[in-house]
Parts: sequence; C-alpha cells; structure tokens
Amino acid sequence: MTWRPIRRMLLILSLTASLMGFSSAAQSAQSGSTPIRYDARTHVFRIDAKNVSYIFGVNAAGELQSIYWGARLGTSDPFPQPHALPGWASFDPSVNTTPQEFTGWGAGLYTTPDLKITFPDGNRDLVLHYVSHTIDGDDLTVTMQDIERKVFVVLDYRIDESTGILRRSATIENRTGKPFTIEESFAATWNLPPADDYRLYDLTGRWAGEWNLQRQALHPGKVVLESRRGPTSHANNPWFAIERGSSDDQDHGQVWFGALGWSGNWQIAVEQTQARQVRVTGGFNPFDFGYVLAPGESLKTPYFYAGYTSHGIGEASRLLHRFEIAEILPHHPHPPLRPVVYDSWEATGFQVNEAGQEALAEKAASIGVERFIMDDGWFGQRNDDHAGLGDWYPNPQKFPHGLGPLIAKVHSLGMSFGLWVEPEMVNPDSELYRKHPDWVLHFPGRPRSEERNQLVLNVARPDVKAYVFHTLDSLLSKNRIDFLKWDYNRNWSEPGWPAAAPDQQKKVYVQYTRNLYSILQELRARHPHVEIESCSGGGGRVDLGILRYADEVWPSDNTDPFDRLSIQNGFTYAYTPGIMMAWVTDSPNWVNNRVTSLTYRFLSSMQGALGIGANLNKWTPADFAKARALVAQYKTIRATVQRGALYRLISPLHGSEHSATEYVARDGKQVAVFAFLHSSQMGYPYPRLYLRGLQAGARYRLHMLDGQASPDTPAAASGAYWTSAGIQLILRGDFQAAAFTLEREP
Ligand code: GLA
Repeated sequence: MTWRPIRRMLLILSLTASLMGFSSAAQSAQSGSTPIRYDARTHVFRIDAKNVSYIFGVNAAGELQSIYWGARLGTSDPFPQPHALPGWASFDPSVNTTPQEFTGWGAGLYTTPDLKITFPDGNRDLVLHYVSHTIDGDDLTVTMQDIERKVFVVLDYRIDESTGILRRSATIENRTGKPFTIEESFAATWNLPPADDYRLYDLTGRWAGEWNLQRQALHPGKVVLESRRGPTSHANNPWFAIERGSSDDQDHGQVWFGALGWSGNWQIAVEQTQARQVRVTGGFNPFDFGYVLAPGESLKTPYFYAGYTSHGIGEASRLLHRFEIAEILPHHPHPPLRPVVYDSWEATGFQVNEAGQEALAEKAASIGVERFIMDDGWFGQRNDDHAGLGDWYPNPQKFPHGLGPLIAKVHSLGMSFGLWVEPEMVNPDSELYRKHPDWVLHFPGRPRSEERNQLVLNVARPDVKAYVFHTLDSLLSKNRIDFLKWDYNRNWSEPGWPAAAPDQQKKVYVQYTRNLYSILQELRARHPHVEIESCSGGGGRVDLGILRYADEVWPSDNTDPFDRLSIQNGFTYAYTPGIMMAWVTDSPNWVNNRVTSLTYRFLSSMQGALGIGANLNKWTPADFAKARALVAQYKTIRATVQRGALYRLISPLHGSEHSATEYVARDGKQVAVFAFLHSSQMGYPYPRLYLRGLQAGARYRLHMLDGQASPDTPAAASGAYWTSAGIQLILRGDFQAAAFTLEREP
C-alpha cells in the first residue's frame, strides 16, 4: 500500500480519534497465525508474542507513533488511534512530545534523532513519514521517506515468538541522485510507557574488572552508554535494562531490556525527555561518524534487540539467555555444550614449546579435560609481547616440526586442539609490518600510538581483510585445529584510513566490523567443525553481533575466584552462562594475591563453562585427585548450568559476605546450587537458601557435591519444601564454598 490515499483517510479518522476495539482490529487484519497484525482502519500495527504486546501506528501527520510496549494485552482491549500529541507551549513542538519509532533530525526535533543527514547543498532537514509496509510471518518492514527528498528508510521488525524479544534495524537508502553524508544512524528507538519511577541497569568495567552491574534512577536528561574505542569495549557493554519501581526482587516487577548486536563503536542513549517520556536509542556511535552514501547505495544499521517481562530482572536475563541460545549463537537453536578446556596462558605464558605443551596436555587429559588450548607465544618471533603479531607460522625453535606433532598428541589423548590467535593486530617488530607498514590504522605524519607494543591492522581495507582471511584459512587447512581463541588486545588510536578518499575515511567504523564479521562467517563456512572464542583482553568484545560467530567468550582476564563471583554475576545479566568461560587457576591469584582452596576455585568456575588454567606441573597428587572428581561432577551438571534457568539466590554485590546461584535444568529434572562465603562474622550461620523454579508437588533428592548441609536436612523432599523451608548449609571460615544438586524423582 502507498501513503498518499492513506493520508487523506487518516486526516478524517484522526478527527474522530475514538477508542477502538482491538478485536475488530484483529478481524480486519491479515489472516493466518502471524504474531504481527495491521489494522487498515486505524493504521495500527500490533505485535503479540509470548507475554508481550508491542503496538505502534501511523498518525495523521504520517509519523510512526509508538503506542504501547509491555505485558500482553487482551485481543479486545481498546486502544486509542494514534494521534500526534500537542507540543508544550512554543518551546517543544509536537515532534518532541509524540513518541516515535524512528525520527529524522528536522522540524524542531530536540530528542535524540535516529537519523541525521547533511545533503550536498548544505540542507540538513530530514522529516520521515510512513510510506508502506509488508508483513511476512515474524517479519514486518515499514518504509518511511523524507517529506520531500528521496531518502528512504526501511525499518525491520522481527519478533521471536518464544521470548517476545523484538529485533529492529533500519536501512537508509539514497535515491536522491546525489551523495549525502549520514552523520548519525541509529537502529531504533524504544519508547517505554509513561512513568516517573524508572531505574536503569547497565554494565561497566575496565580490563580485569569487567561486568560491574550499575543501577541508577532515571531523571530528565540523557545517560549515554557507548564505545568510542573501536571494539565493543570493557568500559560499557551494549546492554541495558530498565525497571519500574524500586523492588530489589529478582523475580517480580516490570523490566524492559535490550542489547545491540555490534562489535564496533556503538551507542545506547537512554533519555528522559522534557515530557517525562523514556526513550532508548541505539546503533552506530555518532561520535566521529560520517558515512557518505552514494546515489543508489544503502546503509544498514546493526540490530537492536529488546524485550519485556513482568517477572523482574532475573527473568529478563533468563529470557536473554534463552534467546541467545535459540536465535543468536552459531548452531542455534542447539549450540553444542562447551567442553571442559585447559588453557596454557597462566601456566606457561609466552614460553610454550612442543615438549612443554605435550607434558601439560597429558596432565590435563588425566583429569578429564576435553579441549587443550595453546595460548600466546607459539608463532613468529614471539618470546614476549614485543614481537611476532602478524607472522602466523609456528616459531621454528619452539616447534621445529610445526604444530602437527603437538596436535596429534592432543588428539591421541582424546582432546580437541585449540590455538590462540590475534589476527587483527601487528607488532612493529614483525615481518608483516616491515612489509606493509601502511596496513595499520594511522594518520599520515602522525605518531602511531602503540599499546602492548602493537598496532591495529585496518581490516576495513580489502587487502588486509584478504590477508587475515587467507592466513587463518591456511592455518586451519594445514593443521587439524578444532578451536581458535580469537584475541584483540588493545583499543584503537589514530583511526585513519589514508588509502581511502578523504570523504570516505570515516567509513572505517562500519567497514572494519563488517569485514571482521565476513571473515568469521567465511572461516566458519569453510571449516564448519572449528569453534571460536571471542576474547579481547578478557571481556572487551562481547555483544550480540560477535556472538553470531563466536561459540563462547572470555569474560575477563581476572581469574581470581572471588572477584569472578561478581564478574560472572554481572555477565549473566546480559549473556548466558553457557558461553561464559571460567578457568581454575593458581593460588595465590596474580590479580589480588588472594589464597583460596582448589575446591573454592572449582566451584566458582563451575557456574559457567569450566576450564583449567593452572600450572599443572605444580600440582600435587591430591590436587589431581580433587580436580578429577570435580571435573567429573561438573560433567553431570554441565547441561543444567549451560542451558538451564539461572536464579540468583544471593547477590555477591555491595560487599556481600555471601553469594549463591541456582540453575534449573530445561526439563526441570535437575537443580544445581552453588554457595560461597567470603568470611564468617560474629559466628552467624550461612543464610538459609530458599530455592526457586521448582515444581511444588514434585519430590527432589539432595546430593551434596561438595560441602555439608545441616544434619536435619532431609534426603528428599517436595519442591514446596525446598522453596519454603529451604536448606541450611554449614559454611564457616574464609573463602568457603559448597554445591549440591536436587534430582527430581520420577
Ligand atoms: C589476552 C587474553 C589472555 C591471554 C593473553 C595472551 O590478555 O585475554 O587470556 O590469551 O592475551 O597474550
């Protein structure tokens, strides 16, 4: 359908802005079981999936007006036809007070625009109105156009019927016949229902200190979450959740949440407008952005995903976990479980060689490890972090016969083989840099700032893209490698692309990340058995964009098992524990010099995807025996931890002495619980744990994996009992931990 005839009709309808019944809307909507319906009479789009309804429409002005996003409504619930809201005096035109799905910067818009363009004649006014739409199953596309110029924006909406999570993006098309410059380009704006009592959650951090959960009340003004660093960043993660009211309850309360799928510079702006409306706008970071769109070209934004629940922040994360597994991760909806890994980094650093790694591999295999990963140090002239990045061939002194013998040994021990790479980087002391000094991000004549003695290859360049792809393709073709730990150990500086025309150089922010995705996609297609971990000095590149190509992530270089409790806690607000690698390393830990028992370290790591990074050459026979037992136990609960529903029983935040998590298996048959004590004080007992997510009438049998429960704890009891009477663990002392399972009786 096209806009012109509708506009006339809308003008008449808007004058009679009456309450419309949605059942009649539904009847006049398209037939079939699509979750997306359009009512041609009221010009309203309605999306219903799971427990969510999302409604917007075309108002008489032609604006795409947001109407409702929240708990699922009855099909016959009334809803007013969209009509632009009045402005506020002469200072806030109606475009600011009317919540809109996607706005161009023009016509007195003061809220964050989704799109801002400078035209070659200096004109910068952009007003987008509805033109047409199509509905196809779970997909809706709405086309908008500037009121005068042939600038088209195609908005994509896709609903996930099992979680009610929506995916949105925008594609900007230049049909004007002349190039123009896109200065700001967001994927979408999400409008929340009018309310004054919203609180924003977000995740902040730094290297070795990622995933700090922050919470703040929203006030008029804007909170900007972003990366200006090139990659996703440790500092802010592209995730948000907004809760109504101020309950500290994990499982009650209304929560709107979302995440961006982009691994380059991004921004999420959370704004409370002067009309007290809360809007969340996310996409490419407008900072230093400038994308010249030639006639006939288009620019597609990243995906911005968002969902709603009335069951609290805990359920918001469970929905995201389910969504990531079902829709995002490679091999979705059934991504394989993570193997138990060993990684050499903390044990041998750069000092890797064939004999040393083989010896470690034998020891790792003896405790039940399923994948052996050789970390940094194996290639080029790499003896420390000063040289070698870029030269991806085995170091001839360390591996005189290539990687073949080590890989064969690892395979013969029944483990898969993983290798560390950092393919987007180069050390100036490398053959690659000596040959191609122009391949790095830089501005001519300006210093090239090194971090960790390395520079960033400009993957936006076609030749660099081809080099990175062919290097890895040949590494994977020549060696029986099963897994790549793909690292990225610095942020950008001097992001110049001198080989491109001056007006094209800022495209580096988009083209770099697109090329990275395309390399990953093609490598996966050519080597389908190879799995990939996204690592960036720990958690610097974790987002729903990279997760379409990465099977797992390294959340932090901080492996202190106590710090990990809060790191892992924050991580799981946005991402599933099924991709959260967690290694058991040496004690005292290098980060805090903290001493902890092997059991404490294991139980901390067993809350995610278990790995071992300790120097096994220093372990005693007792350590091996303990580790063997715990690895075996982990395998019995792995599916529950990696795929189950996570309930946070006690938060480790705000100096808490305690922390406890519970995982309920998908089929409800197994429950795994982990409990940690920082240090006993005044002789108080460990807090009693009241479990969640159980079937009240079913019977569950208790198995202690490690630690003790109070002697009067029943061997088996109903779900109602474990939920309401709870369980008393005996945990006393410093850095103590316990774990148990409940197995549902048939
Ligand atoms: C990064 C990673 C570590 C390790 C080192 C190797 O810091 O996060 O796990 O691989 O690089 O240099």
